[in-house]
Amino acid sequence: MKYLVANWKMNPSSLEKAKELFYDIEQGVKDLSGVEMIVCPPFVYLSELRGETKLGAQDCFWEQEGAFTGEISPKMLKNMGCEYVILGHSERRQHLRETDEMIGKKLETVLQAGLIPILCIGETAEERSEEGTQEILKKQLDILHSIPDTLYAIHPLIAYEPRWTIGTGDACPPDKAKNILSYLRKWLSGPILYGGSVNPDNAGQYIDTGFDGLLIGNVSLDAEKFVKISKILDKI
Ligand code: PGA
Repeated sequence: MKYLVANWKMNPSSLEKAKELFYDIEQGVKDLSGVEMIVCPPFVYLSELRGETKLGAQDCFWEQEGAFTGEISPKMLKNMGCEYVILGHSERRQHLRETDEMIGKKLETVLQAGLIPILCIGETAEERSEEGTQEILKKQLDILHSIPDTLYAIHPLIAYEPRWTIGTGDACPPDKAKNILSYLRKWLSGPILYGGSVNPDNAGQYIDTGFDGLLIGNVSLDAEKFVKISKILDKI
C-alpha cells in the first residue's frame, strides 16, 4: 500500500471550487486499490467534502478544548471525520515560527485523539550538506522519543520534504533522497513519504527508491495530474 497525500494549502478560494476538485479526484481514483488517498483541504471545507478519499487537516492545536482563540483541536477534527493531520509543515515552521517543542506537543495531542500524524521534516537550503541534513532531521525527529508508550500503537507517517524543494519546481535528486531514506530507515519503522516539487514525471522515481508514498502541494490542485500520479503509484 502506498500513501498519496494532497496538501491543498490555502487553496482553492471557494467551497464550490473545493467540491469540484474533490469530486474530480474521487472520480479519477475510484478503481485504485493500492493507494491510500488522503486529501488535506483548508479547515473550512473539511465538513463539506465526503467520499471514499480519506480526509486530513493541515495543522491543529496542542490542546483538545478551551480558551484558545482561533485554534482547532484534534478532537474536533476526529469528530468531523478526519483521520490524518499534517504536523510541522515547513511553511508553518517558517511563517508561523513553529518550533519542534510546539510540534511535539501537537503530536501527542493528535495521537491521544486517535488521529494519524503526518510529520513533516526537512532541511533548509543552508543546512543542505549531508551532515547538516542528517543533524537537522535527527533533531526534528527527537519529538518521537517523548511519545508515551500507550500511544505507540499509531505509527505517524513521516514526510521527508527538503525545504528548498517545496513549491520551487526544484525536486530533490532521487539519489540524494535515497541516501536520506536509508539514514531514516535506520531508526524509523513506519511509512516514510517524500514531498517537494513532485509531478507526474518524477513521482515514480521516489517510489522506486523505496519511499512509501508522496506528499504533494501544487500539483494536487490539478486533478488530472494528481490522478495520473495516483495511477503511477497504484501500478508500482
Ligand atoms: P509542492 O509542496 O508539491 O508544491 O512542492 C509540497 C508540500 O508543501 O508539501
